[in-house]
Amino acid sequence: MLAIIGGSGLAQLSELQVTHRQVVRTPYGDPSCALTFGRLGEQNVVFMARHGYGHSLAPHEINYRANIWALHNQGVKGVIAIGTVGGIRPDMPPGRLVVPDNIIDYSWGRKHTYFEGPERPVVHAEFSSPYDVALRERLIRAIGAAGHRCVPGGVYACTQGPRLETAAEILKLERDGADIVGMTGMPEAALARELELPYAHLCLVSNWAAGKGGAATVEFDPATGAAGVEAVTAALRSLLA
Ligand code: HPA
Repeated sequence: MLAIIGGSGLAQLSELQVTHRQVVRTPYGDPSCALTFGRLGEQNVVFMARHGYGHSLAPHEINYRANIWALHNQGVKGVIAIGTVGGIRPDMPPGRLVVPDNIIDYSWGRKHTYFEGPERPVVHAEFSSPYDVALRERLIRAIGAAGHRCVPGGVYACTQGPRLETAAEILKLERDGADIVGMTGMPEAALARELELPYAHLCLVSNWAAGKGGAATVEFDPATGAAGVEAVTAALRSLLA
């Protein structure tokens, strides 16, 4: 069973045939929402809305540890994390799908590890390649098989939010090597790695990053948003066929 974490604009999966919902508690507190179990295509999946079902949690308020723990506890074999991002690179305009292959983390003050406290060992998780190679490749193939384009690589910058970046901050991120920018990719990916849970990121560009095409907003142009959600859904359907 795979887990799907839905981000902004994808708080539910229209095609999921829901079988049941389950409230899960964890040693790290409550996840963003109850887990939704169901079938998509030919497979069982568990779905979670990262921001809660009413989009009530800002990126820095999300209990990433509880979310990843809850999914891991269900025995899932991997996580497809969906997120909207701002596009920095010219070939990553609004509406484009990107499957990043690396991360720079600019977030701060979030509970970002399971390995802390007196009873926990000191563990330095290997993270040079933060996404699971095989799951990324499956995802990229599925997007193509569904007839959609994606950029199969790129560096995801995770900012703290909830405010958007300044134009100067985006130029700095660009100089650092970032291609897209979002607020929720970390510590989610690192926590999945700590639990040895394969994790891949499916990013939908919602806007040009600040200074890259007018004032940045996380709002989609409605037509682009609808097409993007349809592309993400088609990719998931193809992945799970
Ligand atoms: N910046 C940060 N996070 C985002 C953006 C952005 O421009 N768009 C969507 N999430």
